[in-house]
Amino acid sequence: MGGWRGIIEEYRAYLPVSASTPVVTLGEGNTPLVRAPRLAEAIAPKLDLYLKFEGANPTGSFKDRGMTLAISKAVEEGARAVICASTGNTSASAAAYGGRAGLQVYVLIPEGKIALGKLAQAMMHRATVLQVKGNFDQALTIVKEISVKYGIVLVNSVNPYRLEGQKTAAFEVCDQLGDAPMYHFLPVGNAGNITAYWRGYQEYHKGGKCTRLPRMMGFQAAGAAPIVLGHVVEKPQTIATAIRIGNPASWVQAVKAMQDSNGKIDLVTDEEIVEAYRMVAALEGIFCEPASAASVAGVIKMQKAGLFKDGESAVCTLTGHGLKDVDIAISVSQKPTTIQANMEDVVRVLGY
Ligand code: F0G
Repeated sequence: MGGWRGIIEEYRAYLPVSASTPVVTLGEGNTPLVRAPRLAEAIAPKLDLYLKFEGANPTGSFKDRGMTLAISKAVEEGARAVICASTGNTSASAAAYGGRAGLQVYVLIPEGKIALGKLAQAMMHRATVLQVKGNFDQALTIVKEISVKYGIVLVNSVNPYRLEGQKTAAFEVCDQLGDAPMYHFLPVGNAGNITAYWRGYQEYHKGGKCTRLPRMMGFQAAGAAPIVLGHVVEKPQTIATAIRIGNPASWVQAVKAMQDSNGKIDLVTDEEIVEAYRMVAALEGIFCEPASAASVAGVIKMQKAGLFKDGESAVCTLTGHGLKDVDIAISVSQKPTTIQANMEDVVRVLGY
């Protein structure tokens, strides 16, 4: 069988797997890196801007890159069950890959605060879904303790295999672009992905696969910006529920990625996120979820700060698919016009 074989087979030399690791894959990775000239023109005309659309992964988010590895290793190590806390995407991915491997999958989600599409995914893949009357950070604390006490494999990004898998997105960007970009923009929630990308870029650089390293540019939602504020946020709030996190697990590593790359971790407001979310869909034909658009909102903010020079290249990771969260999409869009079923009404409404 030809074609893309999933990130484990494609990047095996860079990953902690052996010939005896049973590969649990849905063909994740190889997501489009799309040039975004119309968006660039509108928000940052000097930039050569690209969107890495991770919504094109099998469960609709970047989590699949880490999950294929975490689940494969769990199976290799003889696990029967896995557990995670999630704002939605991790649980969808764990449910899919874990279910495929025949494992029990337990997921804890904050009640009422995850996008419905993600909840539907976890339910359809027959995970045991527990809604916690609390937030993601509280749920993560609980599953960490359970995993230690009861020997259930934790598949949050504190599981080292998760970030190892996720770093392959940086490899792909270099392979697709021919080199690393000068800036890489990402939304930051639990701070695992920015950590993973930085690791990926560094490994590729050491291996001579790219000639430079990007400045890592991470953006938190203003109501959930512990790294920017320098303290834990007890009650994080944002429309971008995927990054509604007040105490990121990879906080220290993310700050190091920012410092070592001469990058930045900053915040964007919900209004700025929604504006970017709508622009990406309207101008470039890519429907991402609100949290994903924090990366593009970051570009807008940095443009206003006068950061960019002519011809500089930047990649924004769009972490998840917009179809996961249609409620928000509909609430921020123009409503359809209802008409009678005849041509005259159609052309009149269209202004012909
Ligand atoms: N974008 C989306 C769509 C996400 O689902 C997440 C995290 C992030 C960005 C932030 O990435 O945590 O590595 O900094 N979602 C996790 C989850 C927390 O449970 O699905 P991060």
